Amino acid sequence: MRVAILVSGSGSNMVALAQSMTGDHPARPCLVLANDPDAGGLARAQAMGIPTAAVDHRPYPGDRAAFEAALLEPLLAAKPDLIALAGFMRVLTPDFVRRFEGRMLNIHPSLLPKYKGLNTHARAIAAGDQEAGCTVHEVTAALDDGPILGQARVPILPGDTAERLAARILPMEHRLYPLVLRRVAMGERAPVSLP
Ligand code: GAR
Repeated sequence: MRVAILVSGSGSNMVALAQSMTGDHPARPCLVLANDPDAGGLARAQAMGIPTAAVDHRPYPGDRAAFEAALLEPLLAAKPDLIALAGFMRVLTPDFVRRFEGRMLNIHPSLLPKYKGLNTHARAIAAGDQEAGCTVHEVTAALDDGPILGQARVPILPGDTAERLAARILPMEHRLYPLVLRRVAMGERAPVSLP
């Protein structure tokens, strides 16, 4: 199976996914695609020998359809079987999502269905939650919705800041996302829990 990974930032989840796709793993990375030519994930992918492409979203203000049409060019050329959103921070239109229905995954830094959208860690702390975490789910037309494929939990500690909580959740993301990707590549979609 060929996996295209979409990033916007440093790409640490992309690295975890790409490093997991070796040996008897049923999938391999075929493309790392960014909406920002300066995304750190592009250089990290290149260093790993993975093909990369960038489609800057900024020339398309207010025109998501035109941005997505440009995004589709390198994406379709890579012929992916699965698409993994890994810190990809653009909202995708229902038309784009529908094209890859059941074949697109996302990782979100909250215990969905709680805290869709942004500032998830600060919102979990402000709500007085005892725990936080991350979720890998199938992407559907509704933002941060779609069937849950796996979750990892961490306790929220006294004095936690959003930054400290994020730093504790990120290593769990790096364990959860490769685990779920491997399961999905093997046809297994029953949700998993970590730890
Ligand atoms: C990760 O924490 C991921 O869960 C989050 O962005 C970060 C990307 O880090 N994704 C979202 O917030 C999606 N709405 P990375 O570039 O180092 O993988």
